[in-house]
Amino acid sequence: MPSHDVLIIGAGLAGQRAAVAAADAGVSVAILSKVHPVRSHSVSAAGGINAAISVTDDWRSHAYDTVKGSDFLGDQDAIEVMCSEAPDEVMHLEHIGVTFHRNDDGELDLRAFGGASIKRTAYVADITGQAILHVLYEQLMKYHETVDRYEEWFTTSLLIDEDGKCVGCVARDIRTGAMETFTAKNVILASGGAGQCYKPTTNALICTADGIAQAYHVGAPLMDMEMVQYHPTTLVENGFLITEGARGEGAHLLNADGDRFMEKYAPNKMELASRDVVSRAEQTEINEGRGVGEDGSGIYLDITVVPRKRVHEALREIVNIGKDFAGVDITSEPILIRPGQHYIMGGVKTDIDGATPVAGLYAAGEVACVSVHGGNRLGANSLLDTLIFGRRSGEHAARRAKTMSMPSTTDVQVRRDEQQIAAIIAREKEGRRISEIKDELGLVMNRSVAVYRDEAGLQEAHEVVTRLKEESLSAYVDDRGAVFNQDVLGAIELGYMLDAAECTVVAAIERKESRGAQFRTDFPERNDDDYMRHINTTKNGDAPHVSYTPVTITQWQPEERKY
Ligand code: FUM
Repeated sequence: MPSHDVLIIGAGLAGQRAAVAAADAGVSVAILSKVHPVRSHSVSAAGGINAAISVTDDWRSHAYDTVKGSDFLGDQDAIEVMCSEAPDEVMHLEHIGVTFHRNDDGELDLRAFGGASIKRTAYVADITGQAILHVLYEQLMKYHETVDRYEEWFTTSLLIDEDGKCVGCVARDIRTGAMETFTAKNVILASGGAGQCYKPTTNALICTADGIAQAYHVGAPLMDMEMVQYHPTTLVENGFLITEGARGEGAHLLNADGDRFMEKYAPNKMELASRDVVSRAEQTEINEGRGVGEDGSGIYLDITVVPRKRVHEALREIVNIGKDFAGVDITSEPILIRPGQHYIMGGVKTDIDGATPVAGLYAAGEVACVSVHGGNRLGANSLLDTLIFGRRSGEHAARRAKTMSMPSTTDVQVRRDEQQIAAIIAREKEGRRISEIKDELGLVMNRSVAVYRDEAGLQEAHEVVTRLKEESLSAYVDDRGAVFNQDVLGAIELGYMLDAAECTVVAAIERKESRGAQFRTDFPERNDDDYMRHINTTKNGDAPHVSYTPVTITQWQPEERKY
């Protein structure tokens, strides 16, 4: 039975950064992931990473922009940590080999991004996540004696001892179907977000809320789950991301009348207002009949105003995406986009060291809610969040590991999970297909828990999610084998997504106001008196129990948000 001081589940940027930090602290580490690490969703992060590294910038300005972007729901102590530690983290990446773009003077170049009062986004063309992920993976190779890698292992349960402490996990080797108990002094969840609860989404197929649901199942509270980010520029055809870097480089948004409509909604920042503001503006234009495309459900993103040489140098990935997935040459014609699900601000509630209220269980990256993003995340703050809180979790978990002996575990849970998987495989073909249920979930979430929400739509979503949870219990799989049985893993993932979606809907019903990404047409104003607080959902039998946590305010009092 493998045992480790620190076991990390998920090998994207948060997981790999945590692994390196824990290994540097001299403890034994394992990193376990359901995909090969360089196929983690961090690879698709495009536009860049924020840090106040310009001589004319200051981390406090970055922090204020982040607080304002969060619609004052972000915890300011955590935001201060993230923004003040950002410059050193970005310089560290540079030193270990990330090839950030440089300007003509040889300095790190910075591009404009939404909601930022100054250019502060360091970037590698529009493949920043990929560039960082590959460099971190190379670094991880150096630690082959202290970091064990379990690539293509799928976690089925977290292990909790009789004192309520997290002491490891059960996982399945996807290649063989073998199940194993992993004992650990500390577990760090770094397994990403829940984008696949929506259809379409910019998120990879692997973003199925695994860690969120696993933590929820062992009693950890989820926080800010109602805050779901719609990115303003995703392809109308399929929801693929067109990076905010395009607008950072100067691209315009145009409605059917050819107007740069952002002038009405955010006269100062225009296309570079925060994402919730831009997505709402686009959706309003579409809803009021000024959308473009065959059914008027899109908006034009005009990148032709950016010099062609600069597009090929700094936005080359979206040149390919435009050609391959929309048949559009973005250097010579506008491309049709619309708001699309991109990120969840909520997740497993943690403190600034990634610790959850369950002893021995940490979370970092999109699976976690520290909360540095509050009601709305600023573009390019997500890579930063993964690295800062990945590192801090790794360091803290390593310190904790040094104070304790290895816990003992039994094979009770592994036998239970084996039986559960066998029972799924044995289901008769009488229920619905997993993919059908997943599609219905994605469509209702995208219809009713999206840019605009109201009580009737949210109640409808709640009813659908409740029914789908029931139907998922008899949904069948076609593959009955052990080797690479992704079908049965899909059934487990569906359960994770339904749990996360239920918490999202319940929290959105609870928040009867408009703030950040939650815009309630039936409660269109922000209501600080009643809702300047986080909403937590905790498992209570088969449904979420709602509670509240105060927002931490250090130096910026809530004010009206204008861009
Ligand atoms: O548009 C983008 O490049 C996305 C960046 C982010 O979500 O931080």
